[in-house]
Amino acid sequence: MSFLEEIQRRRTFGIISHPDAGKTTLTEKLLLFGGAIQEAGAVKNNKIKKTATSDFMEIERQRGISVATSVLAFNYKDKKINILDTPGHKDFAEDTFRTLTAVDSVIVVIDVAKGVEPQTEKLVEVCRMRNIPMIVFINKLDREGKDAFDLLDEVEQKLGLHVTPMSFPIGMGYDFKGIYNIWEQKLNLFSGDKKTSISESIEFKDVSSPELDKAVGEKAANTLREELELIDEVYPAFSREDYLKGQLQPVFFGSALNNFGVKELLEAFIEIAPSPQPKNSQERLVDSKEENMTGFVFKIHANMDPKHRDRIAFVKIVSGVFKRNSPYLHVRQGKNLKFSSPNAFFAEKKEIVEESFPGDIVGLHDTGNFKIGDTLTEGEILNFKGIPNFSPEHFRYVNNADPMKSKQLFKGLDQLMDEGVAQLFTLDFNGRKVIGTVGALQYEVIQYRLEHEYGAKCTYENLQVHKACWVEIENTKSDEFKDFLRVKQRYLAKDKQGQLVFLADSEFTIQMTQSKYPSVKLHFTSEFK
Ligand code: G4P
Repeated sequence: MSFLEEIQRRRTFGIISHPDAGKTTLTEKLLLFGGAIQEAGAVKNNKIKKTATSDFMEIERQRGISVATSVLAFNYKDKKINILDTPGHKDFAEDTFRTLTAVDSVIVVIDVAKGVEPQTEKLVEVCRMRNIPMIVFINKLDREGKDAFDLLDEVEQKLGLHVTPMSFPIGMGYDFKGIYNIWEQKLNLFSGDKKTSISESIEFKDVSSPELDKAVGEKAANTLREELELIDEVYPAFSREDYLKGQLQPVFFGSALNNFGVKELLEAFIEIAPSPQPKNSQERLVDSKEENMTGFVFKIHANMDPKHRDRIAFVKIVSGVFKRNSPYLHVRQGKNLKFSSPNAFFAEKKEIVEESFPGDIVGLHDTGNFKIGDTLTEGEILNFKGIPNFSPEHFRYVNNADPMKSKQLFKGLDQLMDEGVAQLFTLDFNGRKVIGTVGALQYEVIQYRLEHEYGAKCTYENLQVHKACWVEIENTKSDEFKDFLRVKQRYLAKDKQGQLVFLADSEFTIQMTQSKYPSVKLHFTSEFK
């Protein structure tokens, strides 16, 4: 197969949802279709369970398991599909945001009864900002849920999307009869009371035909005709171009658990979803078809064995072919590295690969060379963009609890931050260190790992911070900026990259600061240029 064909057959995507909407179940059904797993239940280990919120050891254990399932690759028809796992647990939201920098498209799963939930809103917002193509899958149609049109409205309003239904349910819950596939003009009907399999998939180009009444009953047939008419009037026709630009989102209905509507979703997905896309670097736009290898680290996973501090860095290949034992330039460190055992991921196993193509993810063993966002090239100086830090939600001072081990503590903190476990800020006026996290759980994880992996002990002290705001300044010499620095000095810090951050204690403070110092711009992510 030629290099271009290899690129064109790849689909790298993530599934995002609020916990419990059915992401794991859908992933599993997709893998079953790809023949990558033989039985249901195989992906479940991957899931960080709700019940474990107070049990961080359990979460770490599950994170360990999820190394293998971070990328689930399988072949379907002539396509190579890479699903990047995105943790649903909100304490790992930052992990998910970063993983979204490595996908070319996403599928958003929504529970038909619960509608749009908070975690979905946050994640979709990130995708929308980056114009990532999205397909919406409304799940659990076998249960009583919201009216389909109301849900489409909700998706448009709460998620700010422009949708076009590609399939439409016939009935719901107890009365759920099946789905009309608008995309392929087919009628898929459930069989039996249990609604666990499709009895018939009938081509139905003309829904006015009396055959429809025979298939689903007169009442349901008439309702469907009216609904399809309404869809035709209200929603735009599907346009792949608009979908690829992130301006139109096709919607599918189904039930992942009952394997209903999943195949339709997958068939449409491989047709319309984008192959590996060009990616922006600080220097230039890099096209996937370029021959020289480029890639970037979007995730680092610590080894679960505390005796070995090696980690796995996950690299998304942006262009060219990544080859085993070839030297690549680690741009930030300015040195050449060779990798003798790059891993590729297939369903639940990982194996050493000779070559990887754009869109693929390779796992590289790392002893501390990498941090998130690092770029690898064949010699060109390139720095891929788009892996910003977001404002954490919790902030605490970190104190050294064992003065003999301060070196170990700083090394440990440094490496854990490179892994993206949390963010470290250093206060300007007294040099104290502040750890910011998305979830309170990470503090326990950090404390535990510092002790077990680095032999260092720490304690925390609360700090009243509402948000970290990255500061953009028009003119560093202006009196306004000097005044800002003087007045706010106790709340100013540097992040790990040395960027200036204002730790605001309330929304009110942010508003007051913005109106008092209009030339000092405050951003909630570290990448704003
Ligand atoms: P998540 O990864 O998004 O968190 O969700 P997951 O797939 O684990 O699904 C959450 C729950 O919803 C599971 O039930 C799952 O069986 C159920 N579910 C998924 N898809 C459907 C569907 O189409 N219809 C119905 N009725 N239920 C669905 P659970 O009881 O929490 O877990 P389990 O005991 O079944 O594993």
